Amino acid sequence: MDLSAFPYLQGNYAPVSEERDLAEAELRVEGEIPKKLRGAFMRDGANVAFQPNHYVYPLDGDGMVHAVYFKDGHVEYKNRWVETSHLKTERQFGRTIYGSVGKLLEVPPEVIEAGGEPSPVRNTANTNVLYHGGKLLAMWEGGFPHLLNNDLSTVGLFDYDGALQPGDALTAHPKICPDSGDLVSCTQRWDSPNYTVQVFDKHARHKQSIQVEFPRKGIIHDLQITQNFIVIFYAPAFHSVEKAMRGEDPFEWQPELGTKIIVIPRDGVSPQMTFETEAFFSWHFCNGFERDGKIVIDYVWINSIPFTQAQGTGVEKQPRRMYRMTLDPKSRAVTNEQFSNVFCEFSRIDERLMGKDYRLGFATCTNRDWGDAHGYNCTGSFDFETGEVALWEYGPEANAGEPVHVPNPDSDREEDGWLMCYVHNPGEGPFLSIIQAGDVAAGPVAKVHIPGRVPNGFHANWMQDLTL
Ligand SMILES: [Fe+2]
Repeated sequence: MDLSAFPYLQGNYAPVSEERDLAEAELRVEGEIPKKLRGAFMRDGANVAFQPNHYVYPLDGDGMVHAVYFKDGHVEYKNRWVETSHLKTERQFGRTIYGSVGKLLEVPPEVIEAGGEPSPVRNTANTNVLYHGGKLLAMWEGGFPHLLNNDLSTVGLFDYDGALQPGDALTAHPKICPDSGDLVSCTQRWDSPNYTVQVFDKHARHKQSIQVEFPRKGIIHDLQITQNFIVIFYAPAFHSVEKAMRGEDPFEWQPELGTKIIVIPRDGVSPQMTFETEAFFSWHFCNGFERDGKIVIDYVWINSIPFTQAQGTGVEKQPRRMYRMTLDPKSRAVTNEQFSNVFCEFSRIDERLMGKDYRLGFATCTNRDWGDAHGYNCTGSFDFETGEVALWEYGPEANAGEPVHVPNPDSDREEDGWLMCYVHNPGEGPFLSIIQAGDVAAGPVAKVHIPGRVPNGFHANWMQDLTL
């Protein structure tokens, strides 16, 4: 492959070509792995298998999951592509067939006649990997999730026993309610602007649908729950499949429309509320909760649509900051304030406090000027009680992934858990970093060094008690 034209396929963004199984003897553990850890840390990400025609970060690339399994203080590593129908078809023909989200390609008739995947839109399965209701799912917001086995082998598309209809696109960012165990998710469709909240119970059975109507399909990536509400951002960011098929820039940013905040009662009956504010974009919520009749939402703010749409050759320049928004349902007033000036992304929390008042947010951060390096070289914690931000820098050129909070099973305290993320530090190589959540500034208590390379990726989760 010649990847030289694509900034987001350089350095540690470049794909790996091998699927590997590494036993503990092939890994190098530095420090001490907490013996209480039993389960798996898994992270999804883009890993192109064939030469791309175009590459818009972070929307393109075949999904690959990298997993470190923990049991009794011991570790193992595996990585596997998600075996999507698009990837299998390209393997069958031994070449690139499908285009990019920014530049789609017509599927040749001989591919369809031979039983290949007919849709020109690749289900990348590259965005998130989640374990809920006994199902391990690789997720992408443009289609159905893929069901995986514990060893990362692919079972196939998963439609929640028929609850998902053909054309439904399930979000890659559902939230698990810590009280009920429900998965609060949503579907969107390519052929409709509307949005449907979908709730699945703790056994992954469909439980509830709530319709939200929009005049035009927006790019809505994440959702947040509070005790009584689901909150989404409807930014003036739009994508046109027709323009993508013509090879034109398919993304539009219309700041004059502002950003709307849609508040959806979880009872599915009470009236939905719309709040309006100046235009901003966001990929990710941190948390949300209700206090004194108001709704508080913490999230990563971006000043505009962050796509490097110019033929996939641009690099993102938009600043990103942790913000706290407060919504007053009585007056419909919105306050939207920057919490910190640290450049951050991929915000996470102790998910036992999802939708509840909390103290600590975590994110991948940078302490450098945001130039063409475009890397996150720190793990950060944001203390919403004291206002303090703590950073651990892995190295000036390092790239650190999304920090996942792994609860300490013997403690209810956020601070007593651990943060896990993959880090690539030039000169040191890739490792899984384990940091005490309450003392980020002290740096890793353990590192699991992985020979070879683990490319930069997207979302990760801890799968409690999932073992090989
Ligand atoms: Fe995301």
